[in-house]
Amino acid sequence: NTPDPCIVVIFGASGDLTKRKLLPALYHLEQQNLLPEKFAVVGVARRDLSKTFAPDMKDGIVKGGGVDQGEAKLGKFMERVHYFATEFDNDEGYEGLKKYLADLDGKLGTGGRRLFYLAVAPEFFADITQRIAKHGMAKGEGDAWVRFIIEKPFGTDLASAKKLNDDIHAVLEEDQIFRIDHYLGKEVVQNIPIFRFANSIFEPLWNSNYIDHIQITGAESIGIEGRGPFYEGAGALRDVLQNHVMEVLSFVAMEPPTSFESAAVRIEKLKVWKAIRPVPIEDTARGQYGPGKVDGQDVIGYRQEDRVNPESQQVTYAAMKLSIDNLRWAGVPFYIRAGKRLASRVTEVVVVFKQPLRNIFGQGELEPNVLTLRIQPDDGISVQFGNKVPGPTTTIDQVAMTFNYAQKFGKSYASGYERLLLDAMLGDGTLFAEGAGVEATWTLMTPILEAWEGQIKDFPNYAAGSWGPKEADELLQRDGREWRVS
Ligand code: BG6
Repeated sequence: NTPDPCIVVIFGASGDLTKRKLLPALYHLEQQNLLPEKFAVVGVARRDLSKTFAPDMKDGIVKGGGVDQGEAKLGKFMERVHYFATEFDNDEGYEGLKKYLADLDGKLGTGGRRLFYLAVAPEFFADITQRIAKHGMAKGEGDAWVRFIIEKPFGTDLASAKKLNDDIHAVLEEDQIFRIDHYLGKEVVQNIPIFRFANSIFEPLWNSNYIDHIQITGAESIGIEGRGPFYEGAGALRDVLQNHVMEVLSFVAMEPPTSFESAAVRIEKLKVWKAIRPVPIEDTARGQYGPGKVDGQDVIGYRQEDRVNPESQQVTYAAMKLSIDNLRWAGVPFYIRAGKRLASRVTEVVVVFKQPLRNIFGQGELEPNVLTLRIQPDDGISVQFGNKVPGPTTTIDQVAMTFNYAQKFGKSYASGYERLLLDAMLGDGTLFAEGAGVEATWTLMTPILEAWEGQIKDFPNYAAGSWGPKEADELLQRDGREWRVS
């Protein structure tokens, strides 16, 4: 299934994302013959990079290690990469771009179809979109589609998310908008619906009759990587929990959609988010890392990071307990957490099943079965179960059945811009965030942010390289549970 002939227009093309992710992803699609024959990429940014843009992108692709079909293929791809310099608030620039794209259409036969990719700071999303519309580029002629990919963040709270949606909806239809959450590009995340609905042995157990609770962890060992000003305005809840973790949660918790088409899937995801009970503040935990050791190296605390307020109240760790008010999940808590500078990098979903009601093998409780959907690193799935230890006594120990992507498919598939770019060109919004969904998750998270902002905390409250603040452990201990990592 190859997309229609089209031009991908990347605003903010001089940024890191274009070189590190977008161009390599497009080239990988080319290698798999998934790009249309008539196709071009136009990078748009302020500086005049017309001479250096293509070589620089080529360098990114080569460094990304994606050139296994030789220089010839890459050379052919690079001929399709162009550059156009303009300020983002200059009307003449938009007119120039319009003409530039029309000329390319004339040469290549791309038929006026456009995929605009806004790889720019969020404050420019609405303005660029509106200017593109003002200059007559937001709607194609005849049946030529025009679509927009927007990078996160989609707002920083409910009010700003609504405003952004309103500003964009003023000029675009919702089905033209593809809000990227790169977690939906990750193989294991995409596999969650397949795992649940294309198999018959898991779904019958996927409810409160058999599941005790579910944990979703987005732990990173890296710090804020020089992004002080960005992170001071974001924090762990806005940066990861509200979007990536909530997207994963919706796939884990949703009812089976009637088909795996965008409209049907979006309805089910939205139902999950809307069914989450408002979170009492005592069901949340937050933290900020102080100095510590990560992988044997001394690292500084958050407040010592470059361009961070030395008295910052920003959270680098956030956790909470969620209750989903529907029949399937009644009484099954979802514990979610995300943080920086934790002991290791682990992103996973852990499903803890209920124990058998009686242990006929002796005293004490049996260990629960645990199913782990490991998103990264070592992406894979494992099921843990009790097993007799060979020998003359009846001793039970935990063993695991494990499926690992790298072992089975020869490599890890954790990142996923390829799939998302392809889907946007094909017009399939299934793996993209929707306006209503974004507002639903902000509806849930905004009161928590406000409550936190109103309460000064004694930060730092966890050491870099640990598993986060004590209050996050207490959140589960209260319920007789503990955080798990595989
Ligand atoms: C981004 C956040 O959206 O996701 C980063 O802004 C975070 O702070 C990153 O590190 C995590 O993505 P991944 O793919 O490395 O898990």
